[in-house]
Amino acid sequence: MPKSLVTGAFPSSRMRRVRQHDWSRRLVRESKPSPDDLVWGLIVHDGKEKRIPVKTMPGVDRLNIDEAAKAAVRARELGIPAIAVFPHIDGSKKNDAGSEAGNPEGLVPAVIQAMKAAAPEVGIACDVALDPFTSHGHDGLLDEAGYVLNDETVAALTEQALVQARAGADIVAPSDMMDGRIGAIRDMLDEDGHHNVMILSYAAKYASAFYGPYRDAVGTAAVLKGDKKTYQMDFGNTEEALRETAMDIEEGADMVMVKPGLPYLDIVQRVSSEFGVPTLVFQISGEYAQIKAAAAQGWLDEDKAIVETLSAFKRAGASGVITYFAERAAQLLG
Ligand code: PBG
Repeated sequence: MPKSLVTGAFPSSRMRRVRQHDWSRRLVRESKPSPDDLVWGLIVHDGKEKRIPVKTMPGVDRLNIDEAAKAAVRARELGIPAIAVFPHIDGSKKNDAGSEAGNPEGLVPAVIQAMKAAAPEVGIACDVALDPFTSHGHDGLLDEAGYVLNDETVAALTEQALVQARAGADIVAPSDMMDGRIGAIRDMLDEDGHHNVMILSYAAKYASAFYGPYRDAVGTAAVLKGDKKTYQMDFGNTEEALRETAMDIEEGADMVMVKPGLPYLDIVQRVSSEFGVPTLVFQISGEYAQIKAAAAQGWLDEDKAIVETLSAFKRAGASGVITYFAERAAQLLG
């Protein structure tokens, strides 16, 4: 972006001149999101029903495996580069250790295989974290006091990432915020021959109220005890986000992510400008729900809000955006 120091003074300089026409506005626009910037957040489930609406996220359904494969074809048609998969697991498969996360015959590996068979050109990213699989809804293993154990959890996460890579995932995306998991996962993937599987690290992930609808979508809201403040970041902090990001890059992250999105654009801006690595941002469930709820009341224009928020992410320096709006956004931007 060219930075001119020439300002000029009114009335010879009139900032509104180039705003007069649609053509001149388009000509000087700096940030333009395109379908290439999108990662489609998809919720999948292990039941028979094709689609189950998520109450807190109007317009988002939990998809069964066949529907997920169709969504991959749809992503290809719309030019959406990648899909991020989030699983809703039947309660009978949950336990304290979240061991279903490491099941090579589980839902996520089956979804990866079905999507890859249907549309191999679409990138598949998988969430690495135990919360959809644990009976307590936390992202890791608990000790007797209910504290989330770090190193024991990292061992379980490396197994989970390995299962995803073996099933054909292109990207593994640890969203758990344990220390040291990026390096451990990279080592495990390399040992097993998956040198080209990418790691998208949720590097700066804050303990946020805006995850509420997601926890309903993946079925952790009902079981989660307490909060996640001992592992997700405190929302008052910036320097900590930069340190988290630096460590993840050092450990081998190919891309980093900031989450949530819109309320944390300052973090997106600093991470993208200070590290110069591909920086993704997650327009999370609560951000989606806010726009949907207001639009349903007729209080704002949904399509315009989608394009504006995506432009804001690009303006802040994001290389891409994970969003539940991806299908509609690709239509609007394509
Ligand atoms: C946790 C995880 C979260 C999301 C995805 N994976 C947050 C959480 O439950 O703490 C949030 C996604 C969203 O809100 O859209 N591993």
